Amino acid sequence: MRILAIETSADETGVAIIEASGTGEKDFSFKVLGNALLSQAELHTRYGGIFPNLAKREHGRNLVPVLMEALRQSDEIVQGKHDVSEDQIKSLEPLLEREKELYTFLSEFFRAYDKPNVDAIAVTMGPGLEPALWVGINFARALAQAWNLPIVPVNHLEGHILVARAKDGALAAIDEPAIALLVSGGHTELVLMESWMRYQTIGTTRDDAAGEAFDKTARLMGLSYPGGPEISKLAKDARERDLPRTVELPRPMIRDESYDFSFSGLKTAVKNIVETWKSADHDTRATLARETEDAIVDVLLAKTRRAVEEHAAQTVIVGGGVSANDHLRKAFAEEFRDKAHVLFPSHEFSTDNAVMIALAGYFKAEKKEFISPDDLRANGNLRLAN
Ligand code: KG4
Ligand code: ZN
Repeated sequence: MRILAIETSADETGVAIIEASGTGEKDFSFKVLGNALLSQAELHTRYGGIFPNLAKREHGRNLVPVLMEALRQSDEIVQGKHDVSEDQIKSLEPLLEREKELYTFLSEFFRAYDKPNVDAIAVTMGPGLEPALWVGINFARALAQAWNLPIVPVNHLEGHILVARAKDGALAAIDEPAIALLVSGGHTELVLMESWMRYQTIGTTRDDAAGEAFDKTARLMGLSYPGGPEISKLAKDARERDLPRTVELPRPMIRDESYDFSFSGLKTAVKNIVETWKSADHDTRATLARETEDAIVDVLLAKTRRAVEEHAAQTVIVGGGVSANDHLRKAFAEEFRDKAHVLFPSHEFSTDNAVMIALAGYFKAEKKEFISPDDLRANGNLRLAN
């Protein structure tokens, strides 16, 4: 079965096409035929985070070129028979009335290219920024209507979990129960997985997400967006050169009984330190970057460790943009070396992409869990549920 997937929940516009088979985690196999991604990060830099209406506009502009790139990679772009008629194109106009630019691009696309060989369309329905999610959803509806294909709605978080298990065209076998830690710009979630595709959220953030903490503290230090990779680079330098530890940040809620997180206090603590800087040289920044990275990773690790112990978890899955962090990877690998099997996504699939949406979409499409296009709604706060 071939799945064409669309991801627009934050600032990455992604379209991917996978070919997959199997009915469950054990006999599943897949191949990525096309994977196109366009990041808007540079545009959002001046806001120090994602500016929702700008993200929406950019998705509208980028979706058709990104779709074409994914089709090109998969050799599915055929110039040709015009199998979508002018009447059909016209009938899509109301669907895309809020995305005028997208409608124009898509009309041109249908006039020039044929329907690709795919069986279903998967699209992120949440969580994420609703204006951004809606563009992807309306695009999915338009493609489904024009090409007469079914749609499967995908939970972005499930995509992050599944892609962390994707190894060599299959899913790495895991022992249950498993604990998943999802850490990205928009979410910080601890999830208990007792069995295949059963999820129970046991902890979440009360304010800023882990990635947001990286992004906001980076901004205070004068670093560009996204802040995670910037802080990580500086912190690495401080570690390698063993710079003295001259600043100390709090580890919010590290001893709290719940599995919840709170990162907004870190921002304030970093702000207070930065305000004492007269002029900050490289080493001063690197020292603070390392302490910030340590503080975030210490809290994530402590909560995950306790969840693993309490639930006797055999496997730890870490996903989401922050899972790209090398210090976090090392700390988790060391901590659980003799206790649990730790899985991380490949670096390429740590941050948002549409391959992860295609993977999660496949398992729904395989069970024919399609949604009527009219019922499809963006849900910015969508949770993982059983
Ligand atoms: O999963 P993702 O691409 O988008 C969301 O779903 O939010 O995650 C993006 C987040 C950003 O906050 C970014 O700063 C963070 O992931 N990030 C990192 C690293 N690479 C990306 N954080 C720490 N270290 C990294 N190397
Ligand atoms: Zn994400």
